Amino acid sequence: MELNLSFVFVFVSLSFFSFLHSAFARGGLQSYHTFVSPEVLENGTYNGHTRRLFLKDQSRRSVDVAKGYMTNSDLEAAVKAFGKRCSNISRIYSIGRSVNGVPLWVIEISDKPGVEEAEPAFKYIGNVHGDEPVGRELLMLLANWICDNYLKDPLATLIVESTHLHILPTMNPDGFSLRQRGNANNVDLNRNFPDQFFSMNNDAFAREPETRAIMEWSSQIHFTASASLHGGALVANYPWDGTQDKRREYNACPDDETFRFLASVYSRSHYNMSLSSDYPGGITNGALWYPIYGGMQDWNYIHGGCFELTLEISDDKWPPANELTTLWKYNRMSMLNLVLSLVQTGIHGRIFSSDSGGPLPGFITIKGINYTVKTSRIFADYHRMLTPGGRYKVMATVPGYGSKTTNVWLEEAAMTVDFVLDPEATPKGNLLRSACECNCGSLSRRIKYNLSKQRQLGPKRPVAL
Ligand SMILES: *[C@@H]1O[C@H](CO)[C@@H](O)[C@H](O)[C@H]1NC(C)=O
Ligand SMILES: *[C@@H]1O[C@H](CO)[C@@H](O)[C@H](O)[C@H]1NC(C)=O
Ligand SMILES: *[C@@H]1O[C@H](CO)[C@@H](O)[C@H](O)[C@H]1NC(C)=O
Ligand SMILES: *[C@@H]1O[C@H](CO)[C@@H](O)[C@H](O)[C@H]1NC(C)=O
Ligand SMILES: *[C@@H]1O[C@H](CO)[C@@H](O)[C@H](O)[C@H]1NC(C)=O
Ligand SMILES: [Zn+2]
Repeated sequence: MELNLSFVFVFVSLSFFSFLHSAFARGGLQSYHTFVSPEVLENGTYNGHTRRLFLKDQSRRSVDVAKGYMTNSDLEAAVKAFGKRCSNISRIYSIGRSVNGVPLWVIEISDKPGVEEAEPAFKYIGNVHGDEPVGRELLMLLANWICDNYLKDPLATLIVESTHLHILPTMNPDGFSLRQRGNANNVDLNRNFPDQFFSMNNDAFAREPETRAIMEWSSQIHFTASASLHGGALVANYPWDGTQDKRREYNACPDDETFRFLASVYSRSHYNMSLSSDYPGGITNGALWYPIYGGMQDWNYIHGGCFELTLEISDDKWPPANELTTLWKYNRMSMLNLVLSLVQTGIHGRIFSSDSGGPLPGFITIKGINYTVKTSRIFADYHRMLTPGGRYKVMATVPGYGSKTTNVWLEEAAMTVDFVLDPEATPKGNLLRSACECNCGSLSRRIKYNLSKQRQLGPKRPVAL
């Protein structure tokens, strides 16, 4: 689709439970510096789950378990084969190299890959931790599923036509081949980002190349939302991940409600994530689970303007490869619905200037939420993720122009709200006219598909196990 997003009703009443509930320690426990010692992980004693743990010195075992998983060169070949097979809806590019020089390949899926459009972008990142390889396999299955179902399945078609989906199957190819959590320098990449509470990782040159690649990528492409895939538990984790005093407690970010909604889109579309007895609804606030510092998720929300989730998609970090098909089925609707939430929910639109009529890059804020969403530079389109079923006061601001505010009742479906702003010098007489303009063309919801059709496609469980 071009400038006007069309929206589809898919999410049928997602309700939320109480989240202030004691949680178990996160699988894939952190090993950053002094926070928690890595021995906890080695002994596998936390959380009462049995886990297979793959460490450097267990090479005999790792040879066996790695069988059936793509090696790094298999993955590279799979990415390139995908690029050839689906060349008219994809583009392959690399965002940098790992410590050992392995290219970090990305698949972009869109009807106009590589072309900037007034559409939201989403990114999936797999294999952040080298010993959590399920994500890299599922992301290749996702890419191929979308390619195979484009123009056949409405969800695949909608993703291709109204979003730009960027998939990085592995952020940590070296850790994967070493069967270890950290990269080749044995640094945990999910503790290597700048942090809001503590002064760490602030020296750009000291950061790991994989981390630098992600940060540079995020500065080039404005992602509206994203998710990284992990293993060791079954839960959708959302910001904040840390607390000021290092205590383990719920730490809500300004968009707490929206994050709970997005995490629930994932958990409720999953085969059984939402049935978790450890995490109510299959979701958790990161700091309540256990605080981490220098994580990728919070950095994305603060500095990338991007709503990122951390998804733990299997209790077993490295399950036998013959379980991957089942794991794909369990996660498929979740992975699709999370990307689709970009266009099926929230408030979207563009800012224009009343004098030139052209796009006017600026900022969108919601009254009561201390967070600013930027428009894109070229089309001045914005994509504001929000929980459905709420009344929101939306304000558009551009330096040198008068701000405008409009009240919106956001239902299940997404809404389009465009703003036309007047230069500050504009005579007072124009104010009345422009106050009206700010609502013109807004509130025009478009339901593209039949509701009945969508119900079948809704965030229900996959057909078979
Ligand atoms: C892990 O096991 C080793 C050896 O059995 C032991 O020395 C160490 O204290 C254990 N660490 C923890 C955190 O339980
Ligand atoms: C891609 O190719 C298919 C099959 O040839 C065609 O139907 C479709 O319109 C193409 N899509 C784009 C975006 O070019
Ligand atoms: C989800 O299903 C898998 C496979 O049957 C099972 O191992 C796991 O314990 C289930 N998890 C929950 C939270 O129900
Ligand atoms: C809003 O957030 C910023 C950080 O992004 C913070 O500095 C500021 O104090 C917050 N304002 C309020 C009113 O909480
Ligand atoms: C809605 O469904 C009806 C009956 O299944 C079908 O005839 C019609 O074409 C559908 N409309 C759209 C927009 O898909
Ligand atoms: Zn992990």
